[in-house]
Amino acid sequence: MDMQEYQGRIKGVLITKEEIRRRIAEVGAEISKEYEGKPLLLVSVLKGAFVFMADFCRAVTVPCEIGFMRVRSYFDSTVSSGEVEILMDLDQDISNYHVVLVEDIVDTGRTLSLLVERLKQRNPLSLEVVTLLDKPDRRVVDFQADRVLFTIEDRFVIGYGLDCGELFRNLPDIAEYDVDYAAEVTV
Ligand code: IMP
Repeated sequence: MDMQEYQGRIKGVLITKEEIRRRIAEVGAEISKEYEGKPLLLVSVLKGAFVFMADFCRAVTVPCEIGFMRVRSYFDSTVSSGEVEILMDLDQDISNYHVVLVEDIVDTGRTLSLLVERLKQRNPLSLEVVTLLDKPDRRVVDFQADRVLFTIEDRFVIGYGLDCGELFRNLPDIAEYDVDYAAEVTV
């Protein structure tokens, strides 16, 4: 992708880094209050949540450990079932921890609902989901995160860790991806 297309694909900033920073401070304070004195493990699913996790964990002021997972999910569109394969697992035995799953976005909700089920089978002391973004209009399974930083409309977003074809993760703000860009320049 050349520089012109790269910039053209970024339709506009939806949520600025300052807005993100403010919400992270609020939710980080909530988590710090709730889990003070408890063994806390923040878990992120790579790669989309890596930027959010880096900022979020620094807004948590109580002792906590950090863990990362990589998963791949498969869905059968004819039946509403799916599988989640764990490609990289946690080092920690989560039965000794209160787990906070730090996610980038809840879209259809399928991956996260399967992952939450898998993690609950390991008997954590408690488990909750914090998501940076929520697109409730896109939901196909009944799944609700416990804490949502921003609820957005059904738009494809990039930046702040979120990608399109592995690009744009390094944008500092959350922007809308212009799906029609190529059509605009060829007509
Ligand atoms: P779902 O909730 O199982 O549909 O999957 C959520 C995953 O899809 C997220 O973790 C993202 O990796 C990806 N995703 C969904 N919507 C977007 C978006 O707007 N931008 C970038 N990635 C997205």
